[in-house]
Amino acid sequence: MARDSEKAGERNVLVRVVWNCTDMKFLLISLFLLCCLATVVQFLRYTLRLSSTDLTTTFSSQSPPLNLSSPSSVPTPHPLKNEEITADSVVRRAFNPVGSAAYLFVQMGAYRGGKNTFAVIGLGSKPLHVFANPAFRCEWVPYGDPNGSVTITGYKILPDWGYGRVYTVVVVNCTFPTDVGADGSGGLLIVAATTGDTALDMEERFVALEEAPGSVNVTVFSSPPQYDYLYCGSSLYGNLNPQRVREWMAYHAKLFGEKSHFVIHDAGGVHPGVMEVLRPWIEKGFVTLQDIREQERFDGYYHNQFLVVNDCLHRYRFMAKWMFFFDCDEFIYVQPKTTLKSVLDSLSGYTQITFEQMPMSGKLCRSQDAGDTPRMWVFEKLVYRDVKRGVRRDRKYAIQPRNAFATGVHLSQNIAGRSLRKAESRITYFHYHGTIAERSDPCKVFVNDTTLTFEGTPYVLDTTLQQLAGSVKRFELKTIGSRLQRTRQ
Ligand SMILES: *[C@@H]1O[C@H](CO)[C@@H](O)[C@H](O)[C@H]1NC(C)=O
Ligand SMILES: *[C@@H]1O[C@H](CO)[C@@H](O)[C@H](O)[C@H]1NC(C)=O
Ligand SMILES: *[C@@H]1O[C@H](CO)[C@@H](O)[C@H](O)[C@H]1NC(C)=O
Ligand SMILES: *[C@@H]1O[C@H](CO)[C@@H](O)[C@H](O)[C@H]1NC(C)=O
Ligand SMILES: *[C@@H]1O[C@H](CO)[C@@H](O)[C@H](O)[C@H]1NC(C)=O
Repeated sequence: MARDSEKAGERNVLVRVVWNCTDMKFLLISLFLLCCLATVVQFLRYTLRLSSTDLTTTFSSQSPPLNLSSPSSVPTPHPLKNEEITADSVVRRAFNPVGSAAYLFVQMGAYRGGKNTFAVIGLGSKPLHVFANPAFRCEWVPYGDPNGSVTITGYKILPDWGYGRVYTVVVVNCTFPTDVGADGSGGLLIVAATTGDTALDMEERFVALEEAPGSVNVTVFSSPPQYDYLYCGSSLYGNLNPQRVREWMAYHAKLFGEKSHFVIHDAGGVHPGVMEVLRPWIEKGFVTLQDIREQERFDGYYHNQFLVVNDCLHRYRFMAKWMFFFDCDEFIYVQPKTTLKSVLDSLSGYTQITFEQMPMSGKLCRSQDAGDTPRMWVFEKLVYRDVKRGVRRDRKYAIQPRNAFATGVHLSQNIAGRSLRKAESRITYFHYHGTIAERSDPCKVFVNDTTLTFEGTPYVLDTTLQQLAGSVKRFELKTIGSRLQRTRQ
């Protein structure tokens, strides 16, 4: 009996084992099937991007985590936050943000603008600034005394009229309630930028400006400026014609005079030929060339020209009485018997003056000049002025920079003081559109008339600037010698 029962027991054990084996097999098969199904589901999700809510929620917790990291140095992918089903059977979807499409802030320059005020010029993500509330805080940390720091909210100006692209121009004005570092003791200006995304609570702090002890002398903010006129050029880009740049430079160096300075921004347009014609003026101290080619990484309007003019405004704000903003195919002109100085002195009650252009034909020349035009200067040979009426034309402007806080390309909207819109009776500019990047002689059509209609546009003969050509050429020769005489188109 005992044996029997033992046998029975053995059999029972055997049966249990067999049963267990069958159980195991079943389990294994189901597991295998489950895995297959999970893999198929994963596969479908990855390839067809099928969103099968129920299946993924059922299986996502059971499927083994995929080891996507390859043996090489490929970084670990961001983990996936899954959706979930709430107690109310609501599918709460998850949003998985990765990376950032535009930098929060790209600083180009930061400048002190007084005993307690600074301007920080840079780019910010355009949609962020247009549709959200990114903010800036400014902190002044005195040298050697981190406990003595002062923090304020900076206010931002967006000076590009919505012309931005991925990026828009941002001028952050940091004005402290009391003087900071005004005794020259040194310190750091730290800016904290936020996206305005409350869930993120992210703040990027960066050093905007470092002032070494003894490096600041605030008398410059109240002293008369070093220059009468300063030219802030916008981004130079493309295959520019060196001869045209030479002519423009000589003309304006003569017009602006000894107490003037030209700041030129090279966004890729200053190739060796252009450098040749600028070099004599750089050596004379008339021109500062800024290499801004790196800005091309950050997509803003027309090679970031709004960024460049704002940087120039704040960088040189206390160095000139008047600042000019126009292009290298434009020539400023004041009436005979006046000088730039007499005109601007008469307008010194205004912070800003804007003036209209005289558009010149970029291809009509005189028959009498045919054959000579390849050797003539642009304002010598293009002598037909477009007189079509009722056309809105771009304007250019000059400002007294100490009263401007930000600027644009055609005018500044952030000034203290008055603006004169119609200064063209006293000052204007001739515009030779399309000539600066043309490498051949612009004269394409030769005519004899003093008035004519060409391609539907009325023109008149206008030799105003042509008459100045001789004196400009003599001025160039006298000032920098004959080294540019053989410049090519
Ligand atoms: C993933 O694979 C890599 C290389 O094949 C290995 O070094 C790593 O330990 C694996 N990670 C996990 C979580 O298994
Ligand atoms: C900042 O704004 C204030 C008030 O408009 C102004 O007085 C100050 O000059 C500005 N600072 C700079 C650096 O532009
Ligand atoms: C800053 O303040 C802390 C605490 O108030 C103090 O311990 C520290 O010595 C201070 N540092 C300086 C440089 O004054
Ligand atoms: C600051 O500059 C002015 C001239 O602009 C000069 O007279 C003065 O001595 C300078 N101050 C210091 C502390 O260097
Ligand atoms: C312009 O005048 C010259 C003579 O002065 C003549 O030879 C030429 O044909 C004229 N050109 C045109 C386009 O009328």
